[in-house]
Amino acid sequence: MSFSADLINAIRTANKVAILTGAGVSAESGVPTFREAQTGLWAEYRPEELATSQAFYNNPQRVWDWYQWRRDLIGKVEPNPGHYALAKMEQSLEAGQASFTLITQNVDGLHEQAGSQNVIELHGNIQRTKCYDCEAIVSAWDPADKPVPHCPNCNGLLRPDVVWFGEPLPLDAINQAYEISQSCDLFFSIGTSALIQPAASLPLLASEAKAILVEINPNETPVSVHADFVLRGPSGEILPELLYTAWG
Ligand code: OAD
Repeated sequence: MSFSADLINAIRTANKVAILTGAGVSAESGVPTFREAQTGLWAEYRPEELATSQAFYNNPQRVWDWYQWRRDLIGKVEPNPGHYALAKMEQSLEAGQASFTLITQNVDGLHEQAGSQNVIELHGNIQRTKCYDCEAIVSAWDPADKPVPHCPNCNGLLRPDVVWFGEPLPLDAINQAYEISQSCDLFFSIGTSALIQPAASLPLLASEAKAILVEINPNETPVSVHADFVLRGPSGEILPELLYTAWG
């Protein structure tokens, strides 16, 4: 794939880079995106029916089991070349005294696993567990405590530390994301359908603040029309090539 000289120059001369990633970045690791059909056992459910506080209240075991199924799936996958390229991009930029912030909607932890350091997890992390009541992060529980384990502090039910539909995002995470999106000079929107707020507003905030906006996605999204550069294709292929072109 060849890239515009203006895009390569923008990457090489950037001072403050922000990246927003969505499920598409993990697709090439074998993690289903949100708007693809759920597979197998969970085909009859939609994420919107399971990833909610009401669904957990109504049937804690079904929601806990769904997340255990997703945790097992994610536990078996590896970061793909797109994740590693983003970690390398962070190293290259910071070696050149530029700043780099990766804002992710993904809860799979694959960016950190690939070596990304400065990561803002807007929607939490599926491998972390917290108490539904006191919100304490719990790292261990009695495996015999079934069907849903309880909090050792308050005996509330445990749940994954992810943002459910209708729940507020972690305040510090979204405030940091707003700040960096409005002060960066180069913003990448990668592998997101840009349909879910407030994450979907971040690329537009960057563009309005005169940052150069780049989209990497095989498909068109609401961000596409605002992007200065649109790279149509899988991020696992495009990102390594883009980084090689920029820094060799
Ligand atoms: P979606 O499933 O909505 O969108 C995935 C995007 O990735 C689509 O635009 C695809 O075209 C694109 N895509 C697919 N394969 C790709 C690849 N190999 N490389 C690059 N892009 C690819 O996932 P998100 O946009 O992340 O929220 O969804 C945002 C939020 O909606 C999720 O975080 C979740 C969901 O509701 C919560 O759980 C709170």
